[in-house]
Amino acid sequence: MSELAIDVRGLTKRYGARAVVDDLSIRVRRGEICGFLGPNGSGKTTTIRMLCGLLEPDAGEGSCLGHDIRREARQIKLRVGYMTQRFGLYEELSIEENLDFVARAYGMPDRRAVVRATLERLGLEARRTQLAGTLSGGWKQRLALAACMLHEPDLLLLDEPTAGVDPKARRDFWQQIHALAAAGLTVLVSTHYMDEAERCHRLAYISYGKLLAAGTAAEVIAQAGLSTWELSGSGLAQAGALLQRDARWMVVAFGSALHVSAEGGADLPAWLAERAPAAPWLVRAIATGLEDVFIALTQHATDNVQ
Ligand SMILES: Nc1ncnc2c1ncn2[C@@H]1O[C@H](COP(=O)(O)OP(=O)(O)OP(=O)(O)O)[C@@H](O)[C@H]1O
Ligand SMILES: [Mg+2]
Repeated sequence: MSELAIDVRGLTKRYGARAVVDDLSIRVRRGEICGFLGPNGSGKTTTIRMLCGLLEPDAGEGSCLGHDIRREARQIKLRVGYMTQRFGLYEELSIEENLDFVARAYGMPDRRAVVRATLERLGLEARRTQLAGTLSGGWKQRLALAACMLHEPDLLLLDEPTAGVDPKARRDFWQQIHALAAAGLTVLVSTHYMDEAERCHRLAYISYGKLLAAGTAAEVIAQAGLSTWELSGSGLAQAGALLQRDARWMVVAFGSALHVSAEGGADLPAWLAERAPAAPWLVRAIATGLEDVFIALTQHATDNVQ
């Protein structure tokens, strides 16, 4: 068996004249947690749906869990757990009925035992008759994850699984994901949260359907080749306005400071000394973070499209 759980090349999906996924190649090793990042509408959900055989690509090829994504969609679906971006369970069915429904859909022979064991594991036995729609965001997420794990898949495709979930539930969720990966499961997880991106073994970042960066967090940061500074002190609004006039600077407010990033050999202290020699700002070089890189990537992708 290949050591790659996902190995696709040139994936393309067009709606009308627009390629919303454009010549995308992704490889994910077995047992790896791959974070899938990109702005709204960049093509993450569309890619996930092509990977699990729910959507046919217009171009491209490859395999998922060793099965051809075009010809063996059925086999892939049986081995993949897909957690959709919106709550995918029936809100008007109880917790138990939802799990039973999923177990039935997979034709599980011992489904009552599996459902009971899952309710027990989740600590939801006492609430098994509660309607799924009445659960809190965190519990809905736990239930949805349990439902897509019922058939013991080899690959989890999680589409923004923690959107709208509180920090404690998010942390518990990530502990669970890491435990599953340690046991050999492969996970592709889309997210907009930087702290979650940092918890992944590897990252893939897309914008306008194109892969712009891939690798470990450290590799993605290094490849971007950015320099970053922190600007603090009084009158930062003026500093922001001054920096905004020059397209080389990417400026983001971080608490009571500004983070300023730029490519290549840009020198912020020298630039500021020339234009605002008497300004009261403190400038210090800091390590570039993932968020700085993603903001830069998104800014450039937009520049290319417009
Ligand atoms: N069935 C469809 N018909 C036409 N356009 C579509 C269809 N599905 C998706 N799109 C478009 O494709 C683009 C990519 O959408 P997709 O949902 O894959 O993005 P995403 O990265 O998952 O975004 P988000 O972070 O908001 O979930 C969007 O511009 C969307 O409007
Ligand atoms: Mg999406």
